[in-house]
Amino acid sequence: MRSLSPVPVGMIWAQDEAGVLGVNDHMAWHVPDDFKHFKASTIGCPLVMGRTTFESLAGFLSGRLCIVMTRQESLTHPKLGEALPVAQDRPDEGWPEEGAVRATSLDDALTIARDYCGTHASAHHVWIAGGAAVYREAIEADVADELVVSTIDLDVLAHREASPEDHVAYAPLIDAEVWHRDPKRSDDHWRPMSKDAAWRVTTWVRR
Ligand SMILES: NC(=O)c1ccc[n+]([C@@H]2O[C@H](COP(=O)([O-])OP(=O)(O)OC[C@H]3O[C@@H](n4cnc5c(N)ncnc54)[C@H](OP(=O)(O)O)[C@@H]3O)[C@@H](O)[C@H]2O)c1
Repeated sequence: MRSLSPVPVGMIWAQDEAGVLGVNDHMAWHVPDDFKHFKASTIGCPLVMGRTTFESLAGFLSGRLCIVMTRQESLTHPKLGEALPVAQDRPDEGWPEEGAVRATSLDDALTIARDYCGTHASAHHVWIAGGAAVYREAIEADVADELVVSTIDLDVLAHREASPEDHVAYAPLIDAEVWHRDPKRSDDHWRPMSKDAAWRVTTWVRR
C-alpha cells in the first residue's frame, strides 16, 4: 500500500543511538529543542498515533488533531475524561482543529487524516507519530513518503539499570533499498546540546 495522496505522509520520531524510542511507555530523555522541532514540523497537521503514545501525553497537542489508533470500542482521554469521537460522531463542519479522535486501524486513521487535510489549509502533511507498534505497521504497509528522524546523542540502555520488566520501544528499521538520506534536509553535524543531549535530524526519502 503506497501513499497516493497529494498530501505527503511523513513519519517523525526521535531515537537514541541504538534506536530506542522510549522505555516503559515514556521517552527517556528531555531535549527541548527536539520538541520544538517536532512542534514546528507538525503544527497544523494531523498526527496519527497509537493509544499508548496518546496516553503518555500530558494533554492534547496544541494546533494538531491526534488520530488515535485503538482496537477498543471506546476510548476516554485518560487525563481529561473525554470520550474520543469516532467517524460517525463527526460534526458537519468536519474534524476539530485540535483534540483527539479515535481510529480503528491504520487505514481508518489515514482516511481521517487525509479528510482533515482536505479541509485545513495548514495541513501540509499527515504525520505518523508513533509509537513503536504504529511505526512498524506503517513501515511494513509502505504508506510513508518520508521519514524525519532525530537522533539523540545518548545510549539510554547503557546508562540505566535494566529490569526484566522494562518495556523498551524501538524505532523501525530503515531499509536502505527503499530509503535514502536527503542531504538537503539532514544535518552533517550534531546540533548543540539541549538539556540532556546533542541531537541531529536525518530526513529519509524514497529512492
Ligand atoms: N521517541 C519518539 O519519537 C516516540 C514517539 C512516539 C512514541 N514513543 C514511545 O513509544 C512507546 C509506545 O509505543 P508502543 O509500541 O508501546 O505503543 P503505541 O504504538 O503507541 O500504541 C500501541 C497501541 O495502539 C493501538 N494500535 C496499534 N496498532 C493498531 C491497529 N492496527 N489498529 C488499531 N489499533 C492499533 C493499540 O491500542 P489498544 O491496546 O487500545 O487496542 C495498541 O496497543 C512509548 O515508550 C513512547 O514513549 C516514542
